[in-house]
Amino acid sequence: MHYRFYVWRYVREILYGLRAIRGVKKGTARTELPSVRVIRADGPERYNALVEFYARNPSPFLGAPKTRRQLETRLRKGVQFFLSYTDEGEVVCASGFWPEKAMLTHVCTDYRFRGQGYLLASASQIIDILASAGFKEVNSNARSSNKPLLRVAERQGWKVRPHPINKRLVRLTLQINAEKS
Ligand SMILES: CC(C)(COP(=O)(O)OP(=O)(O)OC[C@H]1O[C@@H](n2cnc3c(N)ncnc32)[C@H](O)[C@@H]1OP(=O)(O)O)[C@@H](O)C(=O)NCCC(=O)NCCS
Repeated sequence: MHYRFYVWRYVREILYGLRAIRGVKKGTARTELPSVRVIRADGPERYNALVEFYARNPSPFLGAPKTRRQLETRLRKGVQFFLSYTDEGEVVCASGFWPEKAMLTHVCTDYRFRGQGYLLASASQIIDILASAGFKEVNSNARSSNKPLLRVAERQGWKVRPHPINKRLVRLTLQINAEKS
C-alpha cells in the first residue's frame, strides 16, 4: 500500500514536471520580458483570486493553499502573498513570502503561460518590493528534481546549495543588491 503510494507520487511528480516544461522553447531568441503588474494579495477579493489560481494549477512541487481555510492558516503564520496580472487583467503568477524567514514560497505560473518569462518578470518585481522593505537576502526551497524552477532561479542569480536537512530539496538564496534597498 505504502509502496504504491510512493510510486504514484513519483509518477505524478514526473508528469507535472513535464507539464511545467511544456511551452518552454530552449535556445530560442529571448525577447523582452512580458509586462506584468505584481500586487500584494490582501483582502477578500484577492484572497479568492489567489486560492482559485492555486486550485487550478496543482503541482506536486507546491504545498500552496487551494481553499480559503488553508489560506487563513498561512496568513495566521504571517505569510504574505503576491499576485501578478497581465495587462488584460488575468492572473499569471502567484507566490508567497514568509518575512520571518525571508523565504519565498508557493511560486507558481499558470500552466497556460509557462515558458514565456512570466516568473522572471514577476520575481524581479517581487524582489524590488522586498528590497524596498529592507530585505538584503531572500531564500527559497525547491525540489532538486524541479528543473524548470532551478533554471529560472539560476538565470536570475539565485545561489543553489544542498538543503541543510532534506536531501530531496535544495536551498536557493538571492543577495539583493545594496543599491536596491
Ligand atoms: C517553475 C515555474 C514557476 C516557472 O515559471 P515560468 O513562468 O514558466 O518561468 P519563465 O517563463 O519565467 O522561465 C522559463 C523559461 O522561459 C524563458 N523565457 C521565456 N520567455 C522569456 C523572455 N521573454 N525573457 C527571458 N526569458 C524567457 C526563461 O528564461 C526560461 O528558460 P529556460 O527554462 O530555457 O532556462 C513553473 O514551471 C511552475 O509554475 N511550475 C509548477 C509549480 C512549481 O514547480 N513551483 C515551484 C515550487 S518551489
